[in-house]
Amino acid sequence: MQPFPKSALKFVYEECIKPFKWAFLGCMLLILADSFVRNILNWFMAQLIEVVKGGVSSEALYQSLLIIAAIALCDIFNVYLPKQVLMYRQKELYFPVRERILTKSMHYLFGHSTNYIVNKQTGSLLAKSEQISATDQVLSVLIVVFWQYLCEMGIKTFLLLAINIYLGLLFVLCVILTALVNYYANKTSERLSKMENKASSIYTGWLVDAISNIRLVKQFNRAEYEKKRLSVLLRQYIKIKARSMIAWFTSYTGVGCFIHICSLSMLTYAVYLWSSERINVGDIVFVLLTVNGGFMYLMELCIHFRRFQVNLAGIQAGLEPFNDNHEIEDQPKAKQLKIKKAEIEFKDVCFAYPNREKLFDKFNLKIKAGERVGIVGLSGNGKTTLVNLLQRAYDIQDGEILIDGQNIKFVTQQSLHRSMAVIPQEAVLFHRSLKENIAYGLDKVSDRKIIQAAKTACADEFIRQLPEGYNSQVGDRGCKLSGGERQRIAIARAVMRNSPILILDEATSSLDSESEYIVSKAVSNLLGKRTVIAIAHRLSTLKEMDRIVYLENGKIVEEGTFDQLKKKNKGKFAKLWQIQQVEAQNETF
Ligand SMILES: Nc1ncnc2c1ncn2[C@@H]1O[C@H](COP(=O)(O)OP(=O)(O)OP(=O)(O)O)[C@@H](O)[C@H]1O
Ligand SMILES: [Mg+2]
Repeated sequence: MQPFPKSALKFVYEECIKPFKWAFLGCMLLILADSFVRNILNWFMAQLIEVVKGGVSSEALYQSLLIIAAIALCDIFNVYLPKQVLMYRQKELYFPVRERILTKSMHYLFGHSTNYIVNKQTGSLLAKSEQISATDQVLSVLIVVFWQYLCEMGIKTFLLLAINIYLGLLFVLCVILTALVNYYANKTSERLSKMENKASSIYTGWLVDAISNIRLVKQFNRAEYEKKRLSVLLRQYIKIKARSMIAWFTSYTGVGCFIHICSLSMLTYAVYLWSSERINVGDIVFVLLTVNGGFMYLMELCIHFRRFQVNLAGIQAGLEPFNDNHEIEDQPKAKQLKIKKAEIEFKDVCFAYPNREKLFDKFNLKIKAGERVGIVGLSGNGKTTLVNLLQRAYDIQDGEILIDGQNIKFVTQQSLHRSMAVIPQEAVLFHRSLKENIAYGLDKVSDRKIIQAAKTACADEFIRQLPEGYNSQVGDRGCKLSGGERQRIAIARAVMRNSPILILDEATSSLDSESEYIVSKAVSNLLGKRTVIAIAHRLSTLKEMDRIVYLENGKIVEEGTFDQLKKKNKGKFAKLWQIQQVEAQNETF
């Protein structure tokens, strides 16, 4: 999938205007018609005054009636068109544009690697997605304000020039002056509005941080501190907001006064032209009806222009995660991974995290089909990285990782992920029902199968004790369940998935002995004939493994069955085993 264009303006054009060019054109035509009708209505009114001014006659009466009929027709359009413009704009342009941007950005986010998403704050990613979907604001200014303004001013200037060339030129001069005055008057309020945005985001950022860490805040009894800190930030924000509002109000009033001066000047000049018989009464009426509204439009245009700049800056800031290329993509002709036996091989694998030393240098490990391999080693020695590489969470720099002889780099990520089930140390659940969590990853599943999976995972019993059983909601990330319960749901999920490869990354290490016993039982139910890679700190949980590999600095330093390694003289595994035996004895006393 292609990233979005880097520049905000190009993004608006490529993603919001180009795909909707006909709707855009339709909108512009409607606005042109709307402006035309409004101005021509004023012109007819001026003509009516001109006719009735000449005194009563049958011809004047006839002409008046004709003009009134034209006014009535314009009036109908004048009521109908603005509503039509509004509806058309929303329905044909804003909503579809928003849907397109939100869908594309959501798809793009899913294409990023887990590592990319984990390294960013989830909240900020979502906020950015929302920021770029606010393109309707930019479009609204482009279409409604700029185009509408252009139509209004163009038609007004044309009609005024037609009445009297100097009157038209004076109007153009006033328009330029008003724009300049507006620009300078807005400068202070612009600076303050930037400060206001900054103060607002500091306050919101702190609030989100405190609320999302509410458990920590309460545990450390820091609620009062957080509240005080937030109150200070809130006060600063409100203060700047008030200053910004006063500045805006002052500039708005100033420009408003200037606009009135312009209108009065035009009116005075129109009267002067009338006194020298160069224009008639009707023309004065037209000036009266037209000019003030025109300047008001100009004032609004300046306000909207500011909004346009702010929104464009927002879009630019929001584009970042949608400009970053996907780090891991399927090769152009990637094939489906075909699992026959589920044999895994790491062949001369070289890997280093960005800006870090090499973690694996020509690493080799072959896991036979249906073999259960336990991986042990001290913290930070690359165990989790190894299973992450197997899932292609990162691309290796050299070597190959093969599953049944197929290089994982050349198969689709979807088929690769489908081939394995992972039970991590911290089982994370969705804020959905237990049923949905267990059946996650499968489209149509019967209740009977879900219950069966829960039974295999030793979870059925505790689920039935919950008030709503399998329909119970598990809370945010599964917070309504204990660690052991969450772990068993994750195991049930793996049972349902029935993948040929099973990865356990310290699946029981955060549990107490009793829960560990239950979860281990659930795990043994799950092992079956799969190819298994199990990482564990607590060595006793690896007794069922066919082979154990001891990893140190990304290298295999010991290898063998549980019993062989346990008895190995001066072996690293044996030493670790002894330490854990002593610890276990101390715990029992
Ligand atoms: N995303 C990352 N970016 C950079 N370095 C990383 C990243 N993840 C892990 N590392 C580093 O790679 C090394 C191996 O980490 P890894 O998580 O694979 O260790 P581990 O053996 O699983 O440790 P533990 O037993 O504590 O889980 C560590 O030095 C770690 O700091
Ligand atoms: Mg780890």
